[in-house]
Amino acid sequence: MVNESKNLDTLLKESRTFKPNPEFTQQANFNDPNVYAEAEKDPEGYWAKQADYITWFEPYNKVLEWHPPHAKWFLGGKLNAAYNCVDRHREGHRKNKAALIWEGEKGSSKIYTYDMLGREVDKAAHMLKDLGIEKGDRVAVYLPMVPELPITLLACAKIGAIHTVVFAGFSSKSLQDRIEDADAKLLVTADASWRRGKQVPLKQFADEAVRGTAVKHILVVNAVGDEADFSMKEGRDLYWDEQIAKASKAPYPAEPMDAEDILYLLYTSGTTGKPKGIVHTTGGYMVGVNHSLRSVFDIKDEDIFFCSADIGWVTGHTYIVYGPLSAGATVVMYEGAPDYPERDRFWDIIEKYGVTTFYTAPTSIRTFMKWGPEYLEKHDLSSLRLLGTVGEPINPEAWMWFHKYVGNEKLPIVDTWWQTETGCAMVAPLPGLTTTKPGSATRPLPGIIADVVDEEGNSVDYNSGGTLVIKHPWPSMLRTVWGDDERFKNTYFGQYPEWYLPGDGAHKDEDGYIWILGRLDDVINVSGHRIGTMEVESAIVGHPAVAEAAVIGRDDAIKGQAISAFVTLKEGYDPTDQLINDIKAKVSEEIGKMARPEEIYFTGDLPKTRSGKIIRRLLRNIAEGKDLGDTTSLADQSVVEQLQRLYKG
Ligand code: WTA
Repeated sequence: MVNESKNLDTLLKESRTFKPNPEFTQQANFNDPNVYAEAEKDPEGYWAKQADYITWFEPYNKVLEWHPPHAKWFLGGKLNAAYNCVDRHREGHRKNKAALIWEGEKGSSKIYTYDMLGREVDKAAHMLKDLGIEKGDRVAVYLPMVPELPITLLACAKIGAIHTVVFAGFSSKSLQDRIEDADAKLLVTADASWRRGKQVPLKQFADEAVRGTAVKHILVVNAVGDEADFSMKEGRDLYWDEQIAKASKAPYPAEPMDAEDILYLLYTSGTTGKPKGIVHTTGGYMVGVNHSLRSVFDIKDEDIFFCSADIGWVTGHTYIVYGPLSAGATVVMYEGAPDYPERDRFWDIIEKYGVTTFYTAPTSIRTFMKWGPEYLEKHDLSSLRLLGTVGEPINPEAWMWFHKYVGNEKLPIVDTWWQTETGCAMVAPLPGLTTTKPGSATRPLPGIIADVVDEEGNSVDYNSGGTLVIKHPWPSMLRTVWGDDERFKNTYFGQYPEWYLPGDGAHKDEDGYIWILGRLDDVINVSGHRIGTMEVESAIVGHPAVAEAAVIGRDDAIKGQAISAFVTLKEGYDPTDQLINDIKAKVSEEIGKMARPEEIYFTGDLPKTRSGKIIRRLLRNIAEGKDLGDTTSLADQSVVEQLQRLYKG
């Protein structure tokens, strides 16, 4: 269960409100309050209107077919995502406008106009074809934040191949699991990547990951160059630069994709140890994503959009690649860390490129708070006109800090609730219309029908809590879990057969505003990254000394949640500092650094109910230094004593 008490206490005390600035409202894309009622009356009609902002090669003949839990949107329509993001802009006034501004960690930058980006995407599309990639084939992408990353995605989209990006912070083992599950034919990676001036040997990880998989080729981008330490396997491994040089320079005609053809898979953590391949299709995703740019982000032709996420996560897919580019905006993509070389790097980027829209995560804001405002004060941030957050509930103090120091007490902040599964923002303010409250993602977007309900599915009263549900399909919703439709049905539609269950707890206030409290399942949100407790537990029990492990997310002032692991050892092993380090290293190796437990507690037994279920609440209380609370459900009361010894409070 989510740790509701603390969140709720702070959130419910929050009563500040911020009305939209009339000047902003006047210029806003969405400034007619009737939009909500209109969309609610006829969601399909509303989405049909939004679909007009996408270029279709052939019109659809039906907006929605809904056989719960399976939805199809824009049936019969043909389109291409890359065409919508790049080519259509090349044909008009945006041809020579900056599409992508890339800033490398070491300070270099590259600017691609729409026309230049289009040429790169076309060459990459030819290259993929030359490598035998066909429509529907899966291409795994394990790249740092270099321009070849969005170019690969768009090239896949252009030929109709399905990309599956694996965040470059994942281990070779996680990469391998995903390659296997997706049955990918090609892996695109880099020689290595830079992180805070240090190299991460991506190609070496890739070599391990492709063992025993169907991958025929590894395509290697030179992101680091001469200094990188890696080897190439004859016949299997190819350099991106060499292959691109060989590829045709002719325009690549966009593959007409069915609205329901898959655009991409993106793996995300769930309650079992196995990540789910979330399936997004072309038509609905593009319509939904583009709509959210126009509504929530009030996107304009002049906008310079900077989303600080990594393209390895859904936020980067939607708000670095498909969203801003489909809207014809200029997007800023930054390769590295926010504190490299100094803690003002983001502010420096905002000033340097005249960023208008800055979209980041609460965990980053809390880090900026810790560093102090002096890093911003050195920079001119007056180009900014809209701020956004995503990834986890934002605590009101962080919201206020963002408002005061970055927003100069006047910019709208859009706190956007959504998920890998939803494709784009779902609950969020419309900046020209919605009065915001720090800590609340406010209301569902027009066309989205969401509510907070109790176990029986009754809408909760105002000022009560329950679980968030989405009661009507929406265009950019996931269509299934790759290769596991049963899991899709059970996870998201198991409890309420016609409603989508996101797995988040929420509270509804007297104005009907939604306050997201956090996950209700065994998913931990560390710095906005979703990590399944089961994944971490199975990595830990993979260590030969470990008998059993239970993992929980405890409150953390910066990361939102941090991972604590409770471990019982096999006979003959002693709980040493060395073992703690080994176990932590094991998790980094198996999953990736972001899943590394902050602390390991050794205990003789884990607290369990009579039916053998681990009582995580007790563990969380220990990790947070709180009283154990009610222990009556424990099967073995002697465990209490052991746990008390761990208790640091
Ligand atoms: C959490 C990231 C509160 C939530 C786009 C959700 C949020 C999970 C918010 C999805 C927000 C995301 N307020 N919680 N504004 N945004 N979350 O799939 O628990 O990486 O279920 O998608 O992040 O994480 P995912």
